[in-house]
Amino acid sequence: MITYTDGTFHLKTQNTSYIFRVTKFGHIESLFYGERLEEQNFEALAVKQTAEIGSTVKYDESDPMYSLDTMALEWSGIGKGDYRHSPAEIKMPDGSFVADFTYEGHRITDGNLSPASVPSSYGDTKDCQTLEIILSDRVNLVTLLLYFTVYEKTDVITRRTVLKNGNENPLVIRKLMSMMTDLPDRNYTCVTFQGGWIRETHRQDTQIRMGLYVNESTTGASSNRRNPGFLLAEQGATETQGRVYGFNLIYSGNHYSGIELSDRGLVRVMTGINPYCFEWPLEKDGEFETPEAVMTFSADGYNGTSGHFHDFVNEHIVRGDWKGKERPVLLNTWESNFFSFTERKLMRLAVRAKKLGVELFVLDDGWFGKRDNDKAGLGDYTVNRKKLRSGLQGFSRKIGRLGMRFGLWFEPEMANPDSDLFRAHPEYAVQIPGRTPSYGRNQLVLDLCNPEVRDYIVASVRGILDSADISYVKWDMNRHMSDMYSKCIGNQGEFFHRYILGLYNILGRIFGDRPQILLESCSSGGNRFDLGMLCYSPQIWSSDDTDPVERLEIQRGLSYLYPLSTMGAHVSWSPHQQTLRTTTLASCFNTASFGCLGYELDLSFLSRFQKKEVSEQIAFYKEHRSVLQYGTFYRFDPLKANKVHWETVSGDRSRAIAGFFQTQVKAAESFDFLPLTGLDLSSRYLLRTRPQPVYINRFGHLINFLLPFHIHPEGFLMRLISKFYRMTDCVEEYEGYGAMFEAGLKLNNQFEGTGYNTATRLPGDFGSNLYVLTRLEEIGKAG
Ligand code: GLA
Repeated sequence: MITYTDGTFHLKTQNTSYIFRVTKFGHIESLFYGERLEEQNFEALAVKQTAEIGSTVKYDESDPMYSLDTMALEWSGIGKGDYRHSPAEIKMPDGSFVADFTYEGHRITDGNLSPASVPSSYGDTKDCQTLEIILSDRVNLVTLLLYFTVYEKTDVITRRTVLKNGNENPLVIRKLMSMMTDLPDRNYTCVTFQGGWIRETHRQDTQIRMGLYVNESTTGASSNRRNPGFLLAEQGATETQGRVYGFNLIYSGNHYSGIELSDRGLVRVMTGINPYCFEWPLEKDGEFETPEAVMTFSADGYNGTSGHFHDFVNEHIVRGDWKGKERPVLLNTWESNFFSFTERKLMRLAVRAKKLGVELFVLDDGWFGKRDNDKAGLGDYTVNRKKLRSGLQGFSRKIGRLGMRFGLWFEPEMANPDSDLFRAHPEYAVQIPGRTPSYGRNQLVLDLCNPEVRDYIVASVRGILDSADISYVKWDMNRHMSDMYSKCIGNQGEFFHRYILGLYNILGRIFGDRPQILLESCSSGGNRFDLGMLCYSPQIWSSDDTDPVERLEIQRGLSYLYPLSTMGAHVSWSPHQQTLRTTTLASCFNTASFGCLGYELDLSFLSRFQKKEVSEQIAFYKEHRSVLQYGTFYRFDPLKANKVHWETVSGDRSRAIAGFFQTQVKAAESFDFLPLTGLDLSSRYLLRTRPQPVYINRFGHLINFLLPFHIHPEGFLMRLISKFYRMTDCVEEYEGYGAMFEAGLKLNNQFEGTGYNTATRLPGDFGSNLYVLTRLEEIGKAG
């Protein structure tokens, strides 16, 4: 995977090559990152320095053409002629900011040399190889190690850095990125995933122009504002073609990525811990490890890079018992009950859930202390017996007896001032002596920099987990940081990073020896959806927004970086709590099925037909969940602005599920395509629409055009008919070779007023359908 020939390193994955070399002055010069190349002399790929360039600073008098400012580099210092932004800003032991790291040597090791302090990717000696390049600033006796780990099969290369101070004098790190590279400009668009609460990971395309573009978070978490993952796509790239680079960071705190186009046509890319409020002193022999950055490349468009990321996350990030395992269908009590419930109410809900096929019952917020609203009780994880009279143990057993597993919500990083915890230990909360702290959701953050606080959280959560039959935990975190200060650290510039290290320490201690527990991380929805959390938590709650139309945007955004097996996606009641939008149960399911399915609604409101519908949904999901969670996922470039097309195909191509989603209906539209890909072209498949009901009352007064008599659209008769009769949306069925389906399947007409019959599709506003493709020999096998 890694070769070193005459000063040139060639890192090879199945489909990519990453090439750089050591220059005569010891800098690491980038030659290429992109398609897989054969071994050869790569001089042709180097950015040439064959003429002296005006207004540059020469690195060394012996070579007037050698200017760091115009070179493509894998790392750059400060103060030696490179005026682009630097991946490191260090107050060096000599008191200056000048740093010049040059090559001392390298080592190539099989496997991944994991960092000690932060979670990282993992793989054994067959999966990956690691290159460690040792650089040093010889004047200051400071060493910089660059690590490159090559994951051959998933086409991913990770990078991280370690800084070591060998000087008697201390140094201070103000910025130390995990990676840097310079790519030749190809008119890149930077694709980032932006948003806020209930509108996470909305794709944003920004044309990279001269100057610096930054994608960062400063809230203390990886944030719902800007996910750490981003892409760089050459002009004209689509979902299926074009050169696209992908970057991400295995980190859950403040991140920073800078993309800078220089006047010499080089695009500098770097990513790492955000330098915002960051300051980290290193004494003699001290060292600092950055988190690991993740890079990939594909010439097959956005689906190419996201496919690499998906495989990488499933194989080399998610770990423990839940790695590669199908996720259970859950019911979560939040949107159905919020804080208000009793054990009887919950049991009724649980019985209903079980009947419908739910496998895991999750009790969300409100089960402890005085937690009857979000103003009190956070921190006091003593069960509220008024609500849960059998206690956690008794209640979890009852759920177990129903044949479901039991899961519980916690928010262990926080406390309400109105809590016994805060009254007993005000010093546990993050706040600055002498300054009134600012609240978020009426709560304060606990100081995870403090070992006593960490011990307290570990002991209290462990105690609860071991006291009942709990096989799932939803670990929430519901506010951004403010008043950053810990009495436990001398330098407050360490606060943000030490908080995250504290969090990782806690998660490792609690869940490391309880790998059977499925941990779903959450932060007001997707405020901490990142690779760091995925090292502990195999799935993450994507968003508090359960409106399926919003979810199309949110889950699409996430899918560029994270696989479906990691995204919590729930069906909720319409009109939706977040938007007041009305959608169908079918559309809620169709969107949520591209993820880890759950239900978050009061099941007692379900009519007889709706119950049937939900149990059909769950049965369908269970039958196909291996494809829906672990298949190869494709987004399609929309052929029309009001459509979204997704597809997931099983690894052996024997099955595929395609989703057709319509946002706003348009009158008398042209035919609809169902784009398909990833099939075995020479195998025969059966394609069939998943049957889904259409409720009579959906037609309102239009029903009068179908009936031989007139009824009031909201009258008794309408209600009566709706009770005993439901329709099925048009089911289409075709048989043919994979190649034919990929060539361009056209769907039946949509409802457009005239000539309605049973072959008419009925999506309307926000309607959708799923289509199942099964290879015919598989059907034979099953039969
Ligand atoms: C956050 C979560 C929700 C729910 C509530 C409970 O908002 O994102 O899913 O758990 O907290 O307070």
